[in-house]
Amino acid sequence: MSIQIAPSILAADFANLQKEVEMLNASKADFIHVDIMDGVFVPNISFGIPVTEAIHKHATKPLDVHLMIVNPDNYLQAFRNAGAEIISVHYEACNHLHRSLQAIRNFGAKAGVAINPHTSINLLADVIQDIDLVCVMSVNPGFGGQKFIENTYDKVSRLKDLILSKGAKTLIEIDGGVNLQNAPKLMAAGADVLVAGSFVFSSANPIATIQELKAIHN
Ligand code: DX5
Ligand code: ZN
Repeated sequence: MSIQIAPSILAADFANLQKEVEMLNASKADFIHVDIMDGVFVPNISFGIPVTEAIHKHATKPLDVHLMIVNPDNYLQAFRNAGAEIISVHYEACNHLHRSLQAIRNFGAKAGVAINPHTSINLLADVIQDIDLVCVMSVNPGFGGQKFIENTYDKVSRLKDLILSKGAKTLIEIDGGVNLQNAPKLMAAGADVLVAGSFVFSSANPIATIQELKAIHN
């Protein structure tokens, strides 16, 4: 299967959000990645439920919502109602991860877990069957446009081995600093979905850039 691309709307022009969503609709993007930051779990604030609803109103692609927030359980239903198809909570923000994953699936969404660069993939071994997507952070969450952390390749290979050893169907998503240089290596290591924010939106032709990412083969 070809790589799936999830452009991050965080890097879009917020004053022209409808236009940006329509551009993604017309592109080869598979998802729209929606970054929610609360200023507590991460040192930045992005936007929340009403803006997610507004994006959903115009989007023809599924929303992949990345919750960089504390107490995510309190907001799962609201983000599902706002149109999230995938909801990822952070491993580091959940005291009862298994319960959070069940709640996401009960609300009818796909259950994702995001892990910070310092978090070991081994911590997911006992819940991997309950995870539809692992979002491997390849930068410290909080900001777009950061430098890709090289340890990610090795981490993705080990995560792929874990998923295969458990017979799970979990997808591996990479989030942060993705570009055309690291994308082929990430795909070779086992990545299924690539998030790309600044690389797409700061390019001269975002639709062509998405197409180039989508065309990558390992
Ligand atoms: C970082 C966010 C990422 C970010 C990616 O906290 O989770 O999704 O938007 O942006 P780039 O691709 O610019 O690193
Ligand atoms: Zn993200």
